[in-house]
Amino acid sequence: MIKIMFVCLGNICRSPMAEFVLKDLVNKRGISDKFKIASSGTSNEEAGNDIHFGTRTKLKQMGIAYHSRCAVRFMASDYDDYDYILVMETANIRGLLRIIGEDSKGKIKRLKDFSVGGDIADPWYTGNFDDTYEDVLSGCKGFLEHLEKEGII
Ligand code: 4NP
Repeated sequence: MIKIMFVCLGNICRSPMAEFVLKDLVNKRGISDKFKIASSGTSNEEAGNDIHFGTRTKLKQMGIAYHSRCAVRFMASDYDDYDYILVMETANIRGLLRIIGEDSKGKIKRLKDFSVGGDIADPWYTGNFDDTYEDVLSGCKGFLEHLEKEGII
């Protein structure tokens, strides 16, 4: 089982988008049994809230299955429970380190570094869910290519 935790700040816009995009990609490849995919935020600000309307609208537009959920904060124990902790932007790494201390096993990576590199903009501020979706999709595809190259899938 390959266990992946996507992390953003609030867990209502970007990380749930990445969670459902990757679930869709592995479903379409028929390899969903090999994966456990979840998402969380470094902040408690949105805990209990459902996915942002903009993310839901974009997922619906792209025909990607999703369901209502409650935002959760990343827990220190998640660090041991997941193999890959994929963040949306550099600030999320700082947020995670405040929770876990240090990335002793080198599990934390920026999602976009599996494609063109860099941070994924926060649509909470930009209002642009289209660009965020493109970044999330290319990052998830790049991540699966990485797993293939490493012989993990
Ligand atoms: P996300 O976006 O980190 O992509 O879920 C945000 C959602 C909420 C807030 C910030 C970012 N907020 O400050 O409440």
